[in-house]
Amino acid sequence: MTISNPSSNVVLITGAGGWLGGILSSALLADPETPDVKLILADIVEPQVPAGAPKGSVITRKADLCDPAEIDQLFTTAHGVPDTIYCFHGIMSRGSEDNFDLGLKVNIDSIRAMLERARAESDNGTSPSPIRFIFTSSLAVYGGPLPDVVGPSTIATPEGAYGCGKLVSEIMVNEYTRRGYVDGRILRLPTIVVRPGVPSAATSAFISGIIREPLKGLQAVCPVGDSLQSPELDLAAWVASPETTIRNFVIAKHVPASKFLAHTRAVYLPGFTTTVREELDALREVAGEEALKLVTFKDDPTNRRIVSSWPARFDNSYPVGLGFIADEGGMVPIVRRFQEAVKAGTA
Ligand SMILES: NC(=O)c1ccc[n+]([C@@H]2O[C@H](COP(=O)([O-])OP(=O)(O)OC[C@H]3O[C@@H](n4cnc5c(N)ncnc54)[C@H](O)[C@@H]3O)[C@@H](O)[C@H]2O)c1
Repeated sequence: MTISNPSSNVVLITGAGGWLGGILSSALLADPETPDVKLILADIVEPQVPAGAPKGSVITRKADLCDPAEIDQLFTTAHGVPDTIYCFHGIMSRGSEDNFDLGLKVNIDSIRAMLERARAESDNGTSPSPIRFIFTSSLAVYGGPLPDVVGPSTIATPEGAYGCGKLVSEIMVNEYTRRGYVDGRILRLPTIVVRPGVPSAATSAFISGIIREPLKGLQAVCPVGDSLQSPELDLAAWVASPETTIRNFVIAKHVPASKFLAHTRAVYLPGFTTTVREELDALREVAGEEALKLVTFKDDPTNRRIVSSWPARFDNSYPVGLGFIADEGGMVPIVRRFQEAVKAGTA
């Protein structure tokens, strides 16, 4: 399979009204490797045009991507056919666990519909080469007995609706790539800390919440353990900062297709291992004992079961070999950066 990258410089981001899609839009406009990039931003809620976007560079569309007709309108805008799609829309972990049918519809059916629409461009010959299809997956695709350190050949066996949906879509992205319909890049994201704003429907939301809320002077409930002394606080997670993750999204666009393993486009993005206890220690180090006192405990076994089923240790060699980058310095610099953002009023 030979795939060369198209170069029309038009990027479609789905889920652009969400957190990562929103910050990726700004990052792409600032990327020196894609000058004059044109963006098509789509979401079921009206996406925002990034501040400072050059006039005419951004088209926004409010669209339900479960409807093929609404997908179609994203390929017929004044910007023309995208050469790259960041397929970011989705129902987050707890959301798809609690509403199984909605999770299947959005995390599987609409991704298949997006792939079909991208394929039509390649079938028609209207796109000079297959559209780059960058899909955000998750470490929730893993479950069951796992090796101490996950590597590129570890088999994914999810134990939840979210991981199941992501894995089904991954398999389709791989197959559409193998057939030359798209140029897929599948990014299995670590849990990203610290997420700003209000708590999300993700099972892992507390991993950000126990840092974010106290730094804002608010109470946070930790659903793991009953006190600072609980052994449950040793629960480990594989995490990365938003800054590094966004940089990796931009890098994903530039990785030569030939560098990926021949049999799969799935890549877990670099991250590092932290525990709930290490997070709380970092909070204490950066913001003091008073901030730590804002964290209270109410053990939630469902939440703990799901997060515990996700692996917390990965071998970074493969993604770093592809050119992706890793955070350095653990939780403390991440907590410090978020504290600065809170002080600046941008968190
Ligand atoms: N944030 C993380 O830590 C993390 C970790 C692993 C994977 N991911 C994946 O990365 C992607 C982006 O994550 P995020 O944190 O920005 O999530 P988010 O929930 O902030 O954004 C997802 C967006 O998808 C949109 N959406 C949902 N259903 C839709 C539909 N039918 N049509 C159009 N839009 C629809 C929502 O309105 C929302 O704006 C998701 O696919 C998520 O599963 C995120």
